[in-house]
Amino acid sequence: MSRAELEADLRAGLWGETPSLPPRWFYDERGSRLFDEITGLPEYYPTRAEREILQQRSPEIIEITGAHGVDELGAGTSAKTRVLLDALTAGGRRAVYAPLDISSEVLLETAEELRAEYPTLTVEPAVADFHHLPPLVGEAGERLLLFLGGTIGNFTEEERGGFLAMVRQALAPGDHFLLGADLVKDPARLVAAYDDAAGVTAQFDLNLVDVINHTVPVTGLHREDWVHEAAWDEGASRIEMRLRAVRDIDADFTGIGRRWRLAKGEYLRTEISRKFRLEGLRTELAGHGLEPVTSWTDEAGDFSLTLARASEDLREPRA
Ligand code: AVI
Repeated sequence: MSRAELEADLRAGLWGETPSLPPRWFYDERGSRLFDEITGLPEYYPTRAEREILQQRSPEIIEITGAHGVDELGAGTSAKTRVLLDALTAGGRRAVYAPLDISSEVLLETAEELRAEYPTLTVEPAVADFHHLPPLVGEAGERLLLFLGGTIGNFTEEERGGFLAMVRQALAPGDHFLLGADLVKDPARLVAAYDDAAGVTAQFDLNLVDVINHTVPVTGLHREDWVHEAAWDEGASRIEMRLRAVRDIDADFTGIGRRWRLAKGEYLRTEISRKFRLEGLRTELAGHGLEPVTSWTDEAGDFSLTLARASEDLREPRA
């Protein structure tokens, strides 16, 4: 990701009423490693819960969808997806899998591994971000698009609406969409999941300051001037990750010719992570022409997978 893109996000985000940046800037090499570490933390349940559902439901998902072509948006290393790929290729069944991600290095490495592991699977990696889907692999009506991990929660309400509309556009009637979404629960558990005792999430959050310093010309922005916090916003049903200033900030973004001041005690919002109620989410999917077929949760009811079928007609999305 380029300096120009970050400068555009800085311009759009820093001088608003609530200074904020989109979470995609977390994921440089160090940030991606820290995120991997987060997924194994005792407090961070979503990855384990989603894996549990996939382990139990993958054969059923393949049976219901009849999928021969699977696309996965934000596939990364396809770690959890292997459970689904086992079911997809069971008994020597032929299929195509297209991992889609913004990082081409990870994609190519993963594709090589998968080709070796699954001889009947054709692997067609493609570089894609959340705003642009390439043509999906497989025949119309036999396609399955995956969006796992709860990343839908990192979108604003508006971004989520646009994303679901794009998904429906990309699918043909009878194709399926499998969506992982985190659920509302005890706020204390939610906050702990985003502010772990070992401080890994704090390192992940603070890494953003390093990414900014490495990517754009700036003076006056120092990691030690910030502390990480996670807050539950009940009204918006979301966790907010914030970097709170422990002293007055006066940063000079020389590349865009702007000065950014933030008083001690104020914060920069670095991520939102929306938590859903299943009924509301299913209604929202249906409103975008993605008719829910089944939803599953893990045993503890912490996380959900919803399988939805693209409707026959491509209606205008309902509000
Ligand atoms: C990628 N995404 C689903 C994670 C989440 O839970 O919202 C990002 C994350 N941020 C801190 N911990 C995990």
